[in-house]
Amino acid sequence: MRAVTSSAVNQVLDFVDKQSQQHDADLADLLRIPSVSADSKFALDVRRAAEWLVKHLAGLGLKPELIDTPGHPLVYAETPAVPGAPVALVYGHYDVQPPDPLDKWTTPPFEPTVRNGAVFARGATDDKGQMLTHVHSVAAWLKTHKHLPLQVKFLIEGEEEVGSENLDTFLAENTKKLACDCVVISDTSQFAPGVPAITYGLRGIAYCEIFLTGPDHDLHSGVFGGGVTNPAIALSKMLSAIIDADGRIQLPGFYDDVVPLTDREREEFRSLPFDEVAFKKDIGVTGLTGEVGYSTLERRWARPTFDICGLTSGYQGEGAKTVLPSRASAKFSFRLVPHQDPQKILAGLQQLLEPLVPPGVTMEPIDFHGAPGIVMPLESPYLEAAADAIEIGFGKRPVMMREGGSIPIVNKFADRLGADVLLLGWGQNDDNLHSPNEKFTLADYHRGIRTSAALWDCLAKVNQEV
Ligand code: BES
Ligand code: MN
Ligand code: MN
Repeated sequence: MRAVTSSAVNQVLDFVDKQSQQHDADLADLLRIPSVSADSKFALDVRRAAEWLVKHLAGLGLKPELIDTPGHPLVYAETPAVPGAPVALVYGHYDVQPPDPLDKWTTPPFEPTVRNGAVFARGATDDKGQMLTHVHSVAAWLKTHKHLPLQVKFLIEGEEEVGSENLDTFLAENTKKLACDCVVISDTSQFAPGVPAITYGLRGIAYCEIFLTGPDHDLHSGVFGGGVTNPAIALSKMLSAIIDADGRIQLPGFYDDVVPLTDREREEFRSLPFDEVAFKKDIGVTGLTGEVGYSTLERRWARPTFDICGLTSGYQGEGAKTVLPSRASAKFSFRLVPHQDPQKILAGLQQLLEPLVPPGVTMEPIDFHGAPGIVMPLESPYLEAAADAIEIGFGKRPVMMREGGSIPIVNKFADRLGADVLLLGWGQNDDNLHSPNEKFTLADYHRGIRTSAALWDCLAKVNQEV
């Protein structure tokens, strides 16, 4: 065991252990607020979640700010500066994905319920539970020692699940306020139960929605079918042109900027304790497919991919209805690897799709948002410090892994603040993020709080060593 705890840290750890019921109650409170950022019906609830955080942070003796943006508000707070010690910026998000499909939830998404040692609710793991671990650890330091060994700044947003566009503007205009040495983010997963991890790479994303219109109203499919272009057929053909049978994406130039995986990294991925049988069971599938020539971890973490996220046309109700629909639409995403530019992907998509729009159908301009992927350098001294903290909190040193998901603002933190980004995830692969029955294991929540408590001490020691 490389990590050693000081008596100051031990006092904080004892304190957080005694507070665990209060920590669970706080999480349940925040989970009851349906802060769905994608759906404007929930805009007031999104704001209520921000206000909950402001109130909670004020209760710790901080002076939090609720910062309005053209979209959902940001919450900012900081502990007092500690001369000579580094500054850590904690980033997280209080917004959540839509809870749909509602009928697949065992208990309602915004009525947090504990079963088998886990709390079930939308946002439990992504990201309310994970984000709160840092709030609780800061509270514990303030309660036990009145100050922290370094300055912590909190920046919690309400638009991560919709692309973080307003946060980028705020970041660009407030680089002084947000100046820091490292950014701490708990919004990813562990490698497996009992295998904590630090994530050093995330994929980027190009998210698109297309709308096709054929006839200006729905038609009888018998009377008119065959003589009129069907927009649902046109859409199916266009979408199927995007990817071939080997899982290769057909947009012109799509792979131009893709850096091939090195033998060394492939070897490192292979050495991880990945259990394909358990993985299939976790996600409830009978088989796996993907780009030919790559392993499941490579496909998920380090290769660009295409997925359809929503597909809509024609009659969706019970029973049959013979209709030739007027409209067809699809939501889909490309997950990107570092150096792929989301704007170039959009241009390639337009080039591929526009010639495929048949006569009698029109395509609206593609609705689009994107963020590039990132792979972080492994040399950072803060990374070692974070590994020490994980060893204290989880009882094991973390493995290093990449992830397939995206956190759009991460590149901007690296670019605009020049800070090292630490992705310290407490979640599990079967937490059902973005799915029905999202959960967060309470033991992971408590271990996350302990790790965070130790982290402030481990990070503070970094500057003193060099
Ligand atoms: N926390 C996730 C991202 C994540 C989850 C990364 C697990 C790695 C492991 C985040 O909230 C998320 O869902 N991001 C979106 C971003 C998109 C809406 C722009 C995503 O990846 O789909
Ligand atoms: Mn998240
Ligand atoms: Mn998410």
